Amino acid sequence: MNFNIAIDGPAGAGKSTTARIVADKLKMTYVDTGAMYRAITLLTIRHNKTNPEDVIKLASEAKIDFKENRIYLNGEDVTDEIRNLAVTEKVSKIAAIPEVRAALTKLQRQIAKNGGVVMDGRDIGTTVLPDAKYKFYLTASVKERACRRYNELISKGYKVTFKQVEKDIIDRDYQDKKRDFSPMAIADDAIIIDTTGKTIDEVVDEIIGCIKKGEGSV
Ligand code: DC
Repeated sequence: MNFNIAIDGPAGAGKSTTARIVADKLKMTYVDTGAMYRAITLLTIRHNKTNPEDVIKLASEAKIDFKENRIYLNGEDVTDEIRNLAVTEKVSKIAAIPEVRAALTKLQRQIAKNGGVVMDGRDIGTTVLPDAKYKFYLTASVKERACRRYNELISKGYKVTFKQVEKDIIDRDYQDKKRDFSPMAIADDAIIIDTTGKTIDEVVDEIIGCIKKGEGSV
């Protein structure tokens, strides 16, 4: 496939798992842009930097690569570490800094320039790849999204309460939607899929169905 697919939506809507399976089925490359913002956030935590100038410097010097669905920050595999709670709590603030977004948007466009990419995030269909041939916006109720995230964290051994996870989801939704620069938004030409009560397979089938229709067949 030489076209790009944008999959946007809030935390816990099932974007990453869905996007990864869609990419596998269509033999395309999956790019998780949330992981890129998380990697920069991890770097700022490690360097104990919070003021925007320092964060921007770190972001502009950082080297981010994807290899076989793993993310590397300056050569180190940080795929698991970027999911920890400290990163999760801080990432929306880092992602609100315009210069950080500009640096990562540039990298994301470079990765997608030859097509064949399924990219998930918050602003892919609106800002990063406004010309993507297919755009989807996945959403689900706050309760369901918090439930999914809670189960995921518990299964990985994190000690969290449901209330904590729900609050984090609500806070991040707010910050991602309200930021001035490239906020989370639904592209006018996106297909909206409410994943509440649906399995990942059902959502994948819905997306592949739309693409098959658009392409004649895949
Ligand atoms: O999808 P995620 O939860 O891993 O994303 C982490 C954070 O990164 C999320 O709170 C918002 C931000 N993000 C963003 O601002 N723009 C993107 N394209 C992807 C993620």
